[in-house]
Amino acid sequence: MQLSLSTWQEVEHYLESRSGIIMPVGSTEQHGPGGLIGTDAICPEIVARRLGEETGVLVAPTLGIGVAQHHLGFSGSMCLRPSTLMSVVRDCVVSLARHGFDRFFFLNGHGGNIATIHAAIAEIHSEVSMRTRPVERSLRCTLSNWWDSAGVRSISKELYGADEGEHATCSEVSVTWFAFPDHIKKVNLSGRAPAWSGIHDSDDYRRRYPDGRIGSLPSLSTPDAGRRLVDASVKDLAGKLNRFLDEP
Ligand code: NI
Repeated sequence: MQLSLSTWQEVEHYLESRSGIIMPVGSTEQHGPGGLIGTDAICPEIVARRLGEETGVLVAPTLGIGVAQHHLGFSGSMCLRPSTLMSVVRDCVVSLARHGFDRFFFLNGHGGNIATIHAAIAEIHSEVSMRTRPVERSLRCTLSNWWDSAGVRSISKELYGADEGEHATCSEVSVTWFAFPDHIKKVNLSGRAPAWSGIHDSDDYRRRYPDGRIGSLPSLSTPDAGRRLVDASVKDLAGKLNRFLDEP
């Protein structure tokens, strides 16, 4: 069940028996010569939808722009400052909490968002702990990355080994190819991209990683691998989500 495809009456009915919601969050940024700019939003969105179907938990619209200042040297990349994303996360949580949602399962698709979402969650939990806003039941948020799954890691290792890389990875490109087979862009890549050596700003990124990839060879991606990766992620995250929702 997706929030954006529901009516307000359906959401009101949902809240009579449940109070959890999956919050996909991603990024809009370059993913190398063949990778879609929406990759980091598409991956958590497709996993979140499947996770919602398997568990019956409502899925919020994807927050599709994240902390990606280091990608701004490449056309089409967009970025929120960390402080902006923290405000966006807080306002979304507070809006939904007004209606009775109190368990927020953030499902992230971008490494650059992790620190900021954790900080936003710590701010929200601080408000609860410090009693700066009245709550009937404690409001809780948690963050999982779609790739943080033993199943996903094992498939990535089996299929790609060291060619997986750190950005525009074979796995994330495979998931987008599975999700959007009509938008597969095959590019002949001469080899693995330069290995991770740190990042400062966007000019520094482009100098270190000229075509946008870090350490990856995504021409090895396949839609079938994407299907397997989504299945594995949903399987592992379903357990995590149910444990979070069942916590006392
Ligand atoms: Ni990515």
